[in-house]
Amino acid sequence: AGIAQVSIDKNMHVLLKDMSLAGLARGEEQIFKGLQLDTKKRKITSFERDLIYSNLDATLSYDDFHKCDMVIEAVFEDLNIKHHVIKEVEQYIPEHCVFASNTSALPISKIATASKRPEKIIGMHYFSPVDKMQLLEIITTPETSKDTVATAVDVGLRQGKLVIIVGDGPGFYTTRILAPMLAEAVRLLQEGVNPQQLDKVTTGFGWPVGMATLADEVGIDVAAHVAEDLGKTPPRNSIHQSELFIQHN
Ligand SMILES: *[C@@H]1O[C@H](CO)[C@@H](O)[C@H](O)[C@H]1NC(C)=O
Repeated sequence: AGIAQVSIDKNMHVLLKDMSLAGLARGEEQIFKGLQLDTKKRKITSFERDLIYSNLDATLSYDDFHKCDMVIEAVFEDLNIKHHVIKEVEQYIPEHCVFASNTSALPISKIATASKRPEKIIGMHYFSPVDKMQLLEIITTPETSKDTVATAVDVGLRQGKLVIIVGDGPGFYTTRILAPMLAEAVRLLQEGVNPQQLDKVTTGFGWPVGMATLADEVGIDVAAHVAEDLGKTPPRNSIHQSELFIQHN
């Protein structure tokens, strides 16, 4: 819903697809509430609200997917589910359509193995709430075509995002730097630091969300899952770093 919201805002026509009517209704409601709030604050007129909202079509089916230039999938963080979705979607989308996956840590090249056209697969990692968080992390694999990258960057910029393009390494950029921080936060909690105190000192340090709250919002289960995966990859160039250190001396 968040991704749809920042897109219809910029005059892109969006099909919001969900599996269940209840989920779809929740998404639509969230978007309309956001627009309604902007109307109340007089950021937009009610006419503009209706105009923006008319860029959104909610659907439970793939019927109109043949019209799509890009699909952004934001399903649950699970490789099997992502594979299932790619296979299903590729039956309906046109040849030129780019397929972007929103993931914080699943390797895009692994996601792309389910695709008939891996050059069209790319990662677009959005942060919640999408309308407030500036960053968009775009992840490419060696197979991703330049055309696909250009399309993803174009859409990201139109959505008003600050776009970074990174390789398909473990945790990409954001998760790679966040994970050690969260792991340390959890260690502090295990040592008996109280969560309120941890939130206070970390926001005091400049983080917009306290570390205890952040761990909770990411989801302890998701965070643990990611940490386990990242833990299996060797630390990046610890030798190189010390070499660098010696050189500096
Ligand atoms: C993108 O995926 C990550 C990982 O599942 C999730 O934390 C984040 O909220 C998702 N973003 C959106 C906008 O759905």
